[in-house]
Amino acid sequence: MKSISFKLAGAFFIFTLIIESVLFVTLYSSIVDTRINEEVQALQKRGNSHRDVLEKHFDQRTIEHVALMETEAETNVIITDKNRRVLAQSVPGDIKEHLHVEQKNIPRAGIALSNHLNTSKYICTISPIMKGEKTSGYVFMFLETSSIQALVQSITERFIISFGLTGIFTLIAIFLFSRFLTKPIIKLKKTTENIINGRNDISLDMKRTDELGELAASIENLSSGLNRLQKERNDFLSGVAHELRTPITYIKGYADISMRNGLDEKSRNKYLSIIKEETDNLARLVDDVFLLTKMKQPSFTIRKEPVHLHTFIAKEVQKSQIAYSEKRISLSFYAPKDLYASLDEKRFSQVITNLLNNARHYAEPDTKVAVTALKSKGNIIITVADEGCGIPEEERGLIFERFYRIDKSRSRQTGGTGMGLAIVKEIVEHHGGTITVKGRYPKGSEFVITLPAKDK
Ligand SMILES: Nc1ncnc2c1ncn2[C@@H]1O[C@H](COP(=O)(O)OP(=O)(O)OP(=O)(O)O)[C@@H](O)[C@H]1O
Ligand SMILES: [Mg+2]
Repeated sequence: MKSISFKLAGAFFIFTLIIESVLFVTLYSSIVDTRINEEVQALQKRGNSHRDVLEKHFDQRTIEHVALMETEAETNVIITDKNRRVLAQSVPGDIKEHLHVEQKNIPRAGIALSNHLNTSKYICTISPIMKGEKTSGYVFMFLETSSIQALVQSITERFIISFGLTGIFTLIAIFLFSRFLTKPIIKLKKTTENIINGRNDISLDMKRTDELGELAASIENLSSGLNRLQKERNDFLSGVAHELRTPITYIKGYADISMRNGLDEKSRNKYLSIIKEETDNLARLVDDVFLLTKMKQPSFTIRKEPVHLHTFIAKEVQKSQIAYSEKRISLSFYAPKDLYASLDEKRFSQVITNLLNNARHYAEPDTKVAVTALKSKGNIIITVADEGCGIPEEERGLIFERFYRIDKSRSRQTGGTGMGLAIVKEIVEHHGGTITVKGRYPKGSEFVITLPAKDK
């Protein structure tokens, strides 16, 4: 199975199983060692206490008495002289073979021979019976290893049961935990698949505040961003198609008329000049669309450099002067001589040209248009104010959108496609600035560009 919950549970289980095994084995061996040591020490203690009695009375009566005492106990004793000849023993039998001990000098505290646990029938301790500095005999104590093995066996059985139960509980816990963890991931995966398949109405409805909740919120944002983009693209395409339709209809219509027989030279020229004008409009529209699309690309950059605003605005005003004079609109400007702004001059020239063209188009003859630049609160403010028809308040936010025109028919006469302010806004924003428009009293509009005085 390839599912993430299975992989996660499997990995967790193997990991915990290894840790549990190490812990169980360590605990098991330390418990078993402790229990065996306890048994051996008890045996040694018992041997030593017999030895203590025998040191005081090393006579036949006491020796036999000690041996007799052990016949009733689980343990056995053999008492020997210093040459390991048996003086008394609690059970008859082959137990004597254990009397052979390599070690010569046995300390008074005695020694334990517990390492025979698996190979021999008994574990054994030796306690020397001392008389002054000399050894006069030995007390050998024996405990059958079968009793210790039974003890070890019962500990082992308990450990195996506990280990099995822990393993089962761990497996269940890990499975439930991994399901809990992976369920939202699977939901997110399904949702992204839906987005890929073009479904827009996604709602994850995850009320989590952790990373998965954040991921869900990001996916929802991504989806709504995609929707917006899709809508923008559709609007843009239908806008372009709509703007193309009118000039193409004009061009086709006037081309048909121009081709009619018997048309006089004057009329033909008039129709051809309309075709030329519409073709120019088309070319301008295509240029604008191309420029705007280019500016929307993340790779688009502008090259800013310090620009002396007085010189820059004077030049822009100069360029528009003739067209303004033709419409008898006065064009003035003001900018302090020491004011600089960081601009891409070529692009920003397009901003001022578009605003001046609009002011001229939408203003009546014998009115005034003024361009000003000044510094205020750390920003550079450039304004273009006219005494034209003005823009209704509710449409002031909309005119910066592509293809948006207030009066479609009137704009048509001027050849406007509604792209000018969209391009202006894009360029200003690429400079880190903003553009707004406000009304003027008694009539007219004022476009206000705010640019940061210093580059960030
Ligand atoms: N100074 C102004 N006074 C009144 N209305 C304006 C002014 N400037 C712009 N507008 C309105 O805003 C609309 C959008 O302007 P924009 O410059 O984007 O498009 P356009 O001038 O119609 O066409 P284009 O600039 O692409 O040739 C215009 O159609 C016009 O209705
Ligand atoms: Mg315009």
